[in-house]
Amino acid sequence: MVNSMRSLVGAWLIPVITALSRSTLRSTSTSASSAQFTIPAEADIGAQLIANIDDPQAVNAQSVCPGYKASDVQENLHGFIARLALAGEPCDVYGTDVDALTLTVDYQASSRLNIQILPTFTDAVNSSWFLLSEEFVPRPESGGATNASDLIFSWSNEPSFNFKVVRKATGDVLFDTEGTVLVYENQFIEFCTSLPEEYNLYGLGEHFNQLRLLKDANVTMYTADVGDPIDSNIYGQHPFYLDTRYFKTGNSSERAKRNESNASGQYTSHSHGVFLRNSHGQEVLLRSQRLTWRTLGGGIDLTFYSGPTQADVTKQYQISTVGLPAMQQYSTLGFHQCRWGYNNWSELAEVVANFERFEIPLEYIWTDIDYMHGYRDFENDQHRFSYSEGAKFLKDLHEGGRYYVPIVDAALYIPNPDNASDAYDTYTRGAAADVFIKNPDGSLYIGAVWPGYTVYPDWHHPNATEFWSNELVLWAKNVAYDGVWYDMAEVSSFCVGSCGSGNLTLNPVHPPFLLPGEPGNIVYDYPEYFNVTNATEAASASAGAASQTTSTGSSPSTSTAYLRTTPTPGVRNVNYPPYVINHVQTGHDLSVHAISPNSTHSDGVQEYDVHSLFGHQGLNATYQGLLKVWSGERRPFIIGRSTFAGSGKWAGHWGGDNISKWGSMYFSIAQALSFSLFGIPMFGVDTCGFNGNTDEELCNRWMQLSAFFPFYRNHNVLSAIPQEPYRWASVIEASKAAMQIRYALLPYYYTLFHLAHTTGSTVMRALAWEFPSDPTLAGVDTQFLVGPSIMAIPVLEPQADTVKGVFPGVAHGEVWYDWYTRTVVKAEAGANTTILAPLSHIPVYVRGGSILPLQEPALTTREARNTTWSLLAALGSDGTASGQLYLDDGVSVTPNATLNVDFGASHSSLHITTTGKWKEVNSLANVTVLGVKKASPLVKFNGKQMSTVNYDSTAHILFVGGLQEVTKSGAWAEDWVLEW
Ligand SMILES: *[C@@H]1O[C@H](CO)[C@@H](O)[C@H](O)[C@H]1NC(C)=O
Ligand SMILES: *[C@@H]1O[C@H](CO)[C@@H](O)[C@H](O)[C@H]1NC(C)=O
Ligand SMILES: *[C@@H]1O[C@H](CO)[C@@H](O)[C@H](O)[C@H]1NC(C)=O
Repeated sequence: MVNSMRSLVGAWLIPVITALSRSTLRSTSTSASSAQFTIPAEADIGAQLIANIDDPQAVNAQSVCPGYKASDVQENLHGFIARLALAGEPCDVYGTDVDALTLTVDYQASSRLNIQILPTFTDAVNSSWFLLSEEFVPRPESGGATNASDLIFSWSNEPSFNFKVVRKATGDVLFDTEGTVLVYENQFIEFCTSLPEEYNLYGLGEHFNQLRLLKDANVTMYTADVGDPIDSNIYGQHPFYLDTRYFKTGNSSERAKRNESNASGQYTSHSHGVFLRNSHGQEVLLRSQRLTWRTLGGGIDLTFYSGPTQADVTKQYQISTVGLPAMQQYSTLGFHQCRWGYNNWSELAEVVANFERFEIPLEYIWTDIDYMHGYRDFENDQHRFSYSEGAKFLKDLHEGGRYYVPIVDAALYIPNPDNASDAYDTYTRGAAADVFIKNPDGSLYIGAVWPGYTVYPDWHHPNATEFWSNELVLWAKNVAYDGVWYDMAEVSSFCVGSCGSGNLTLNPVHPPFLLPGEPGNIVYDYPEYFNVTNATEAASASAGAASQTTSTGSSPSTSTAYLRTTPTPGVRNVNYPPYVINHVQTGHDLSVHAISPNSTHSDGVQEYDVHSLFGHQGLNATYQGLLKVWSGERRPFIIGRSTFAGSGKWAGHWGGDNISKWGSMYFSIAQALSFSLFGIPMFGVDTCGFNGNTDEELCNRWMQLSAFFPFYRNHNVLSAIPQEPYRWASVIEASKAAMQIRYALLPYYYTLFHLAHTTGSTVMRALAWEFPSDPTLAGVDTQFLVGPSIMAIPVLEPQADTVKGVFPGVAHGEVWYDWYTRTVVKAEAGANTTILAPLSHIPVYVRGGSILPLQEPALTTREARNTTWSLLAALGSDGTASGQLYLDDGVSVTPNATLNVDFGASHSSLHITTTGKWKEVNSLANVTVLGVKKASPLVKFNGKQMSTVNYDSTAHILFVGGLQEVTKSGAWAEDWVLEW
């Protein structure tokens, strides 16, 4: 049974995957001997450092540093400015102390307070001091007045400068540095705040673990190209947290304990947000009642958002500071299929044909690096992905209402200067414009990535964005792509240092590690319980794994002779800063698997100071490029791996290189919810898992789960077993069932995106955000909501046919309807309810009080948008419901016509109010009202009696059909009312 579909279909579907070496792919290899050169694995090994938090010899800055004294307070309209002077002998513990600082307290808006502490003399002792330019990361807007603020700032000099931020309405202390010293050095800043004993903190990304930060969490933030290890720094950097505090109602000093039940409705919560505008490597340590925030440089630019709800905080953060998320094209909400190892256009065509054949929706087909000529951006391999064949493929694809997205990597190939036939026009143009990152001596910084030796666009160069845009425009003339998948921008390099300098004639043909599928790196890994569901294959895989020699070159020395550096007064050591963050790469060395911290931008800024911004700026350049490619007429569609605070205004994000394991699927929910907080709602993960082989059961559950994520893509690693949803019978069934729901809900998703884009609301939501007075929900990340109205409770473990879930709010009259049966869920308040969830079934619920506009599912969103409408009105316990719909052409950056529909139901009637000029031509087929306690036989639409009416008095469902006649000119062409 298991895998039967795969073996059945496999014979004609699956190309034989041969061990792939890039030497066989390069069409421009030079002499036989130089074509053999491979960058050795040692090239990506740096120094062995010990992370400060693990170092028994580490000095605690708090115990040796003097702190500061404040003076010269000068009040102004928005707050005040003061001087901070070092309060004793400099400690110079992990850098050089700055003796004079300027404190600026700015009440920017009633909900927002900003505190800046910056060196007063930026050109004095520490001439290498780095201040983050507003050009790269804008500051939050100023302009509020002190007395209108929700927040109060106070400070004291006893025993040294410390400050508090208090919520005015409740007196709750949100931030308090009392009892700690401020440490402010050129390569190390540390400040601490007290926390409540029972704290609930979220955010501080990017990391791969549970939603609520652990009580003794060590959070490192520094962008890194690394495949989703748990608890480490990964691809993006988001120095923002949400702090939610639960109180006894009417008593803001009495806090709720974690997991305290709220059955009797005695709690309420307040949330606030904190953002540190700083691009350096950072570390946040959570300890008992204490948060310690450290950075490797820059300044303190700290903004507090008063909330008081999560939704308020998220809106305040996006609107004032990082920007509202990009509006997505309607089509991007369809299903996306990708894999590393789609080898040519005809293979893509075959995949598309299979989706059609199995009648599984498919909207976007993607290619990984396979399509490239020698892994060069903006150039196709003309043997396998020729422009002429591609033009035909893309024409057919587009005519079928489908789209294509290729990967684009951050680094660009630099050719062998001795080989004229190796020229690469993109490089030539970039070199002529001089827009690549340099070594400190002014020579080109040359790292190594997929193509061999590579250079890196310098986003600080005034012409770099134009260069990048132009490359996208030129390439689009050859390949009519529909978006960009922007990868490797952490920014990754497979060697330490400028390893290509003087070495360009070596033409490395292979990265310094084995590709998946190559001898020694055959993918034998399967999800947990594969040995139960498929004992035979599992046994042969484990035999294969056992016989595979795992040696992939030399590994770092195991000696404990750690490199420790001590500060030199006034001099920064950017390659080996004295403070060692717990960076995920080998040896914690910042130069491993990335370009070096001392590589230098055109404005003299060192990579050390802006490392985590590379991807963010590359996303901006790509966004500008796509605007040009489509003459500003189409919303850029970009999915990026490396993000920073604010990337959401240009791009969505996928969760990176996860693993085909059950834990990766579980953490995808927390990762998505964190990105809701970061203002990047367009989020999804590699469904069915990237690294390793998946199996039928995991892929079944994952295709169901991801169907409810904003971005829905299946992606797979090179040489792992194929995992398109049509590979197994049960996965076909599960995918179709879940996609039926997703595609019916597309108008709802699109409306949520419009609201996110215009107001800063979220798409995927944690239970705690929608039910803020229930402390038991504070850590829930095994189920989630989409918008306010849809709740999914996925199965996250193998071999289960039930799942436990909570139905929030039922103690206070919240009603939940089963999506499938449309009947009320009988759930007990606060109880973990066991729900039937056999394979291929994902429990989904509609929240009472919601009105959902639905269309018919279809194989593409274009078809789905051409179907008739229906309304699902799920009444709350008070008999009311409401909802919204936003429509436009789904594509335009500035649509010339839009439509907003407001739905409301109360007192046995449902009415709509429409505004806007977008013409929706499809009619309304029917209305289903759930929770109708009694219905009169007389159901009227705009006063006219309807004949197709069915009332189920047991299930309390009212169905009114036959509405096409009365909505011929379009479901939302005019306001109407339905009465029952
Ligand atoms: C954080 O780091 C400290 C010091 O290494 C360690 O004791 C603690 O267990 C870590 N916390 C977590 C959640 O791993
Ligand atoms: C950017 O390009 C313009 C136009 O080609 C040129 O005049 C200018 O010098 C360039 N700027 C730099 C910093 O190279
Ligand atoms: C050039 O390549 C050789 C061989 O891998 C290596 O030993 C050398 O360090 C490289 N040069 C630089 C500047 O990294």
